[in-house]
Amino acid sequence: MEKSIKFALKMIMAGRKKEDVLKYVNEEIYEIAYARYLARNKISFYDKIYSDIEGIKKYATYEDVAKYKAKRLKCNVLADLGCGVGIQLIFFANECNFVYGVELNERRYKYCLKNLKKMKIKNAKVIHGDALSLDVYNKIGDVDIIFSDPSRKFKGEISFENLSPNPIKIYELYKNKTENFAFDLPVQIKKDKIPFDCELEYQSYLKEPFRATAYIGDIKKCEKSVILLPYNIRLEYNKNLERNLKFEAKPDEFLYLLDRTILIAGLVPEAIEYIRKKLNKYVKPLYMDKRRCLLTSNEFIKSEMLECYKVLKICKENNLRESLERVNAGRVYPRFEIDPEKYYAYKRSLERGLKGKNKVYIFKINDSYILTKKIY
Ligand SMILES: C[S@@+](CC[C@H](N)C(=O)[O-])C[C@H]1O[C@@H](n2cnc3c(N)ncnc32)[C@H](O)[C@@H]1O
Repeated sequence: MEKSIKFALKMIMAGRKKEDVLKYVNEEIYEIAYARYLARNKISFYDKIYSDIEGIKKYATYEDVAKYKAKRLKCNVLADLGCGVGIQLIFFANECNFVYGVELNERRYKYCLKNLKKMKIKNAKVIHGDALSLDVYNKIGDVDIIFSDPSRKFKGEISFENLSPNPIKIYELYKNKTENFAFDLPVQIKKDKIPFDCELEYQSYLKEPFRATAYIGDIKKCEKSVILLPYNIRLEYNKNLERNLKFEAKPDEFLYLLDRTILIAGLVPEAIEYIRKKLNKYVKPLYMDKRRCLLTSNEFIKSEMLECYKVLKICKENNLRESLERVNAGRVYPRFEIDPEKYYAYKRSLERGLKGKNKVYIFKINDSYILTKKIY
């Protein structure tokens, strides 16, 4: 089987079509090979794993995120309820003395067993069944932490009823075994929608919002936090910080776009404090809406939580064209709210007739256009 999967993976990597590959291998082999192909940007041991396509495409965690979570949840015994093909479980097993995995889907359960064997994991027991059944509950011994990364039953509304297994039901059933629970949730979730006393930790991976984890019990460290991976920048909610930000009327020499996950987490004051205290740089809020938060400073600041732009010119709409010519713009990148369907037409209309060589990024605050050059 392994030989056929490797052969199919080679064909897929070479860009061969599914029909071509299926002339040599069956559907299952093709699917495992394709799942490995999809996993190549997520997991270093992608060429060893067994998975269905959905198990990797929709569910499997990035290795850096899985490692981070396993380190944070390091304990004696942990149970992962709804472990899928076991990617996160492998990393838990590397940190904990013993782990349980529970998976309802028979095929994923079998692949999970294979993956643990391939990765030479010996301190794990995988159970096939419904994590919410008494049968499974009774097969799990003493545990320190219950973890679950549920799948969404259907697209759309983020509610606990839409998650499987439902974290509320897991909590009710397993609360006699431990008081420590960690639930992975969609990153769009708001803290007031969570019916637990928990720390809600928002995670970004390579600057994109990725997931949120609710930590309940002793493993809760604060009310809300954000972790930017793989950079390991962590911010915690600080109730003593002023939350009504005062926005500057105009940008200074540099404009900074703050990591969006920090904005989603509502931890902008903590980010400004971090820059002031840890990086020893002075930065001020300039603008904030649902999608972006802009900060400004006369100082150059290097941080993984920021994108840095140098301000070239500020103008109004009626002299936008003239200003773009003045700063030798060639390509233009609007960085403000535009109907996505109209974005490229608008960008092209701005670029028409420009003869310069510079790439110019445009931010808009009220009726002012800020023309900038991207530094990083
Ligand atoms: C998001 S995936 C987990 C992915 C996993 N964390 C990984 O890193 O590969 C959620 C899994 O929970 C399983 N599941 C859903 N309801 C369940 C239940 N009641 N009991 C056990 N497993 C369940 C699904 O079949 C799915 O494989």
